[in-house]
Amino acid sequence: MHTKRVLSGTMLAVQLGLTALIAFGPALPAQAAGVAKFDKAGELVRPQGYREWIYMGAPLTPNDMNNGKAAFPEFHNVYIDPASYKHWKKTGTFRDGTVIMKELVSVGSKQTASGNGYFMGDYIGLEAMVKDARRFGDQPGNWGFFRFTDEKNYDFNAMKTHARANPAANCASCHQASAKQDMVFLQHYPVLRASKP
Ligand code: HEC
Repeated sequence: MHTKRVLSGTMLAVQLGLTALIAFGPALPAQAAGVAKFDKAGELVRPQGYREWIYMGAPLTPNDMNNGKAAFPEFHNVYIDPASYKHWKKTGTFRDGTVIMKELVSVGSKQTASGNGYFMGDYIGLEAMVKDARRFGDQPGNWGFFRFTDEKNYDFNAMKTHARANPAANCASCHQASAKQDMVFLQHYPVLRASKP
């Protein structure tokens, strides 16, 4: 065509750029909606500041009710990022980009002034779920599952700073089989149930 011959260098560069964008999509690791950050190797960078997100609840699977070896020992403090919670309140669904953190807390004592029970001790681990259709399009619900926990000593200060997504058999399969909504155990989170439209 006529126009092709009069393309300037700049226009050609723009044209090539557009062609590359259409052919290969935007370069990773640009993240669409969520707060999750991934490194160049595709590992999740340990999120910060999540204790100021929305608190979903605190399920507890203590070792002493699980033959001394619970899969996720003790308390699980669960948080969802604020923008995704806003979306949840509007739609009752988890948006692409949702990040849910599960912080493990040991049982500190079993007695206090008001009686016997389970009381939080120290932070001992951290897990995460990230919903990202582009990264985890081939995973159930498009969720990626991550474990930062130091599995040897449950030392919070020795946790990983970056974590690779777990194979579905390690994490997703159990969530898929038993979680109430979109791989999330809604049955254990009154905060989410009460705010669902
Ligand atoms: C045997 C079943 C099972 C396996 C395997 C499992 N989970 Fe879960 N997960 C649960 C249950 C049950 C809950 C909710 C109650 C609780 O925390 O105990 C939960 C809760 C969570 C939550 C909070 C959000 C939610 O869906 O309730 C995260 C995050 C999470 N798990 C991450 C992981 C990661 C990461 C792995 C793999 C390393 C994993 N889970 C493996 C059963 C499982």
